Amino acid sequence: MTDKNHAPLTEPERQYFFMNAMRGIVLEKERRLGRKLTMHVTTFGCQMNAKDSEKLSGILQYIGYEETDSEDADFVLFNTCTVRENANMRLYGRLGYLGSCKKKKPDMQIALCGCMMQEAHVLEKLKKSYRFVDIVFGTHNIYQLAELMYEREQSNKPVVCVLHKAGPIVEDLPALQKYSFKDGINIMYGCNNFCSYCIVPYVRGRERSREPKDIISEATRLAKNGVKEVMLLGQNVNSYGKTLAQPVSFAELLRMVSQVPGIKRIRFMTPHPKDLSEELIAEIAANKKVCRHLHLPLQSGSSRILEKMNRHYTKEQYLQLVAQIREKIPDAAITTDIIVGFPGESEEDFLETLSVVEQAGFLSAYTFLYSKRTGTVAASLPEQVSQEVANERFHRLLKTVGDVAAKQAEKNLGNVEEVLVEEENPENGLLTGRLSNSMLVHFPGDRSLIGELVPVRLEECKGFYYFGKIFF
Ligand code: 5AD
Ligand code: SF4
Repeated sequence: MTDKNHAPLTEPERQYFFMNAMRGIVLEKERRLGRKLTMHVTTFGCQMNAKDSEKLSGILQYIGYEETDSEDADFVLFNTCTVRENANMRLYGRLGYLGSCKKKKPDMQIALCGCMMQEAHVLEKLKKSYRFVDIVFGTHNIYQLAELMYEREQSNKPVVCVLHKAGPIVEDLPALQKYSFKDGINIMYGCNNFCSYCIVPYVRGRERSREPKDIISEATRLAKNGVKEVMLLGQNVNSYGKTLAQPVSFAELLRMVSQVPGIKRIRFMTPHPKDLSEELIAEIAANKKVCRHLHLPLQSGSSRILEKMNRHYTKEQYLQLVAQIREKIPDAAITTDIIVGFPGESEEDFLETLSVVEQAGFLSAYTFLYSKRTGTVAASLPEQVSQEVANERFHRLLKTVGDVAAKQAEKNLGNVEEVLVEEENPENGLLTGRLSNSMLVHFPGDRSLIGELVPVRLEECKGFYYFGKIFF
């Protein structure tokens, strides 16, 4: 076996050392079993986790595992989310099932990583009730997967390595892209906002921006491999670059990325309404490669609740921002996130949320029931709203969002718009593509168009998607 003491101390060289060592171990197991080993990665949560999972899958593939759709694989990895309680419950449910699979197949390995692992009470529960889990790691060391797998091979105990402080940003490891023509790029990690309901700053740490030159070289590499659309990812993208030795604004970064040859479309996720600058709005208006879509989380339409949420804007400021966007970028769609049932939310507060939804004209909204997260400021607020009241409001909100979104979507009927073709629906043979504003359109066409940008006429609106025809 490779001697771990010979591992380089610099990254990513150290991880390549362990990936190669694991390759040998996997080959050995393959010989013994007379077949290839399989892996399955399940991702909960946001785009950042999806991006992390591409890296984790890339490492496993490099090591020699073949990807499979079945959760009953040789190496099973869950990349977890803890933004809301129900994601946690889903993980425990899945683990119960996997525990029974592992009883029948003792060679199987189970690994857990991501946001949920950063919480002490989760680690305790795993230690007590889920002792069959082999490897546990957190948000700050996903790049160490191969090293932890190697450690697990050498010991007969589970390996738990959760760091509570962010370490270096390790780049240049393999990644298994979900689509060959579009991909996400992390531009920053962590969040400094401490919205009072949100656990993200506790599990993902403080805000850190990547150097623009690293982002540009990743975009260049992706474009050379056929990527046409990139999504710039961060918890709060408009504070990008403020803490770099040579500060760069997010608008400047957008301009730089749009100059990368081969990049045809740029998206980003997520800006915070409190610091969406005029400079950024002007850049989007002028830069045709930037998609006509702003996801601008509202959270609540009541200024009183927004203050308790620590959002740093009022209802009036939010609506003013929307008006400014509509004036400067008339073809931009605005979408949002809304939380229902935040502690102390009264019927009047909720009606204000409904009224902002109508005034802002969102094209879609992710709606969430407030979920109490241990350790956040909101968790200790009095007047938690009852489940029954929150559910009833949630349904009213869904109805308003649906009506407003359908009205907005209908406005685009008859337009010919550029679509990035993403896949073919095996059931009806129609192609599915995404508009610049992020909505989906289904239309007849040949699957050779997957990955291409084509003009499509929007002919029928189904609320959340369209039917259309290729327009020549
Ligand atoms: N309860 C419900 N929704 C939440 N979000 C974040 N924290 C919570 C919580 N504790 C929502 C916010 C955020 C989105 C990613 O998740 O709306 O914008
Ligand atoms: Fe959470 Fe607020 Fe940071 Fe978004 S901006 S991750 S809601 S703390």
